[in-house]
Amino acid sequence: MKLDTTYLGLPLKHPIVASAGPISQTLDGIRQLEDGNAAAIVLSSLFEEQIRSENELAEQRLSAGTDSFGESLSYFPDVAERAAGPEDYLNLVRNAVEVTDVPIIASLNGMTNEGWVDYARLLQDAGADALELNVYYIPADVDTMGADVEQRYVEVLDAVKAEVTIPVAIKLGPYFSAFGSMARILVDAGADGLVLFNRFYQPDIDLDTLSITPSLDLSEPNEIRLPLLWIGVLAGRVDASIAATSGVRTSEQVIKYLLAGADVVMTTSSLLRNGPRHMADLVRGLAQWMVDKGYDDVGQLRGAMSQRQVQDPAAFERANYIKVLQSY
Ligand SMILES: Cc1cc2nc3c(=O)[nH]c(=O)nc-3n(C[C@H](O)[C@H](O)[C@H](O)COP(=O)(O)O)c2cc1C
Repeated sequence: MKLDTTYLGLPLKHPIVASAGPISQTLDGIRQLEDGNAAAIVLSSLFEEQIRSENELAEQRLSAGTDSFGESLSYFPDVAERAAGPEDYLNLVRNAVEVTDVPIIASLNGMTNEGWVDYARLLQDAGADALELNVYYIPADVDTMGADVEQRYVEVLDAVKAEVTIPVAIKLGPYFSAFGSMARILVDAGADGLVLFNRFYQPDIDLDTLSITPSLDLSEPNEIRLPLLWIGVLAGRVDASIAATSGVRTSEQVIKYLLAGADVVMTTSSLLRNGPRHMADLVRGLAQWMVDKGYDDVGQLRGAMSQRQVQDPAAFERANYIKVLQSY
């Protein structure tokens, strides 16, 4: 049974990867993920705001008495304790690379192209095998045009690519008017991989306190549908690795993502629910399904159900929508 594969040019023993999340925030968690059989580990993100907080704190120390970092404080209320954040993160990368045998992918999370992207180089110098760039951006300014938003993604990617030689994957949300074209633009701009999709954590309203509350629910398997659609459309049409993220609970979702055309499948929620050893269950489930279906190489199933491979490509488009409505 051949499960090994490549992602961002990195050889992996199988296609299931631990995505950025709380478990990969500590060296102990990273060790547990490797013991649990993760093929690669994406570290929890280093945030632009964390880097800015530290820079502003340093400036503030230099010009004692000013209160210039108030905005960053609102992102990270415990900024005083986190002041060493970026340096801690670099140490985490160094240690993770030293103690594990699987690729370590550092994650940078930001939305501007200035003042923090030089951390990409520091992460490379710390030994990261690749970078995942999460551009988490909600264009809440109603005057912002779609083209400007797209340009922002390209500028952040450009700035990061200019700093490093290791592969860079970009993690994106689905909310572009033409996602396929956006994906191509980013690949043309140098993205080595696309991670689909970022989950946006929409706020909720607390009816007792009448306040806006953050809400973070772990994902459910039906959330694979939207990434599945776009991975199926993009497979074989972009010259970049494709990672699926969102909605994995069992090996069923892993297999579907691979059939649609993902090179690797990532998971966080399932590991938070079941512990890092759940990774091994996912790998076993994939291997068993391959035996049952007569596959002996994971490369054979990858993309077998992509839009380019299925007999009815329209199933990915409007025709399917009409069929679905009529079938109710
Ligand atoms: C508690 C928590 C923390 C997360 N932290 C990060 C992060 O630091 N950076 C990031 O890019 N994604 C982060 N994510 C998103 C996950 O990497 C993943 O993309 C998302 O949870 C969807 O995958 P899942 O359905 O397997 O959970 C986090 C998710 C959770 C639940």
